[in-house]
Amino acid sequence: MIGAAAGATIVAHGGYLIIHGQITAGDFTSFILSFFMLNDPIKKLNGFNLRLQEGAASIRRIFEIMDTEAEIVSPPNAVKLQRFEKGIDLKIDRFQYPLAEEPILQNIDLHVDRGEVVALVGSSGSGKTTMVNLLPRFHDIDKGAIRIDDYDLRELDLHSLRSQIAVVTQETILFNDSIANNITYGHPECSQERMIDAAMAANAHQFILQQPRGYDTLIGEKGAKLSGGQRQRLSIARALVKDAPILILDEATSALDSESEIEVQQAIERLMQNRTTIVIAHRLSTIRHAHRICVMEKGQIIEMGSHDELLALGGRYEQLHQMQFRAHFADYAGAAKIATS
Ligand SMILES: Nc1ncnc2c1ncn2[C@@H]1O[C@H](COP(=O)(O)OP(=O)(O)O)[C@@H](O)[C@H]1O
Ligand SMILES: [Mg+2]
Repeated sequence: MIGAAAGATIVAHGGYLIIHGQITAGDFTSFILSFFMLNDPIKKLNGFNLRLQEGAASIRRIFEIMDTEAEIVSPPNAVKLQRFEKGIDLKIDRFQYPLAEEPILQNIDLHVDRGEVVALVGSSGSGKTTMVNLLPRFHDIDKGAIRIDDYDLRELDLHSLRSQIAVVTQETILFNDSIANNITYGHPECSQERMIDAAMAANAHQFILQQPRGYDTLIGEKGAKLSGGQRQRLSIARALVKDAPILILDEATSALDSESEIEVQQAIERLMQNRTTIVIAHRLSTIRHAHRICVMEKGQIIEMGSHDELLALGGRYEQLHQMQFRAHFADYAGAAKIATS
């Protein structure tokens, strides 16, 4: 209405001026034309303002996240952990997630020597992932203490602690960037040779060369352009570049088909060399050579020993073993039936 009223006023006033000979009809026409040509740019300016407002709202949210204070930080006068040397001591009397009602871990007392391979098994929800996530201090425990080389984790400089630990989980964390940048993530100083060595040890070099642009290939959001096994081998290569003395493997091969599992398993064995490893495995066959196996149930370690010792014990481990053996056997029997029919 305001626009229409303004237009009417201009025409009326212009007509008046022409009649009284103060301007010519030509002057007035060119004025009107340029006046209406202004309309478009002004509209655009308005749209631009709208977009600016939307952007400002998004930026505010991003800054909110960036300004969030981390709850777990290095203490003042933190000790910088030098290279890990002796062992890890987990004494967890009790751990509970902040808003949960029940404790998730209780009465855990586990010592892992340097160079040892300790496996955690147990039904899902028994607290295995929770326990290994306490080592890089993703959460703090309520009662008890976790020590690395006799230092309580809460005394240590967080960066120096986390630089000693490499984690490979079922879910890989890859970025929409080149393969090279994904492998050397966190270590921009890593040389080309070292990166390629890591990729070779991770059984990844071959498939990387087959990509359209080799190491410079972009892999898509979360590595969407790669298969599960390929993604897993990239995260193993990344862990090799990190070269941390402590290694955590959380069901690293669970999501893979048996063919890529062999390649990944081989890569994992190379990664484990000369490291202290805590491995969580779904399939018991992958951990039978661990120095020690802990069976977890409802947040507690209920059995501990070597594969043979635990089988001889005839407890929960033996039961899990029987169950998997039978499932495995059923697979073979099914395949044989199809083959003969
Ligand atoms: N961030 C979390 N907050 C609250 N509860 C959690 C969280 N993560 C896991 N849990 C709970 O802790 C229990 C143990 O989980 P988890 O450690 O992942 O077991 P596992 O790895 O043995 O399958 C589960 O009951 C799960 O629901
Ligand atoms: Mg888990």
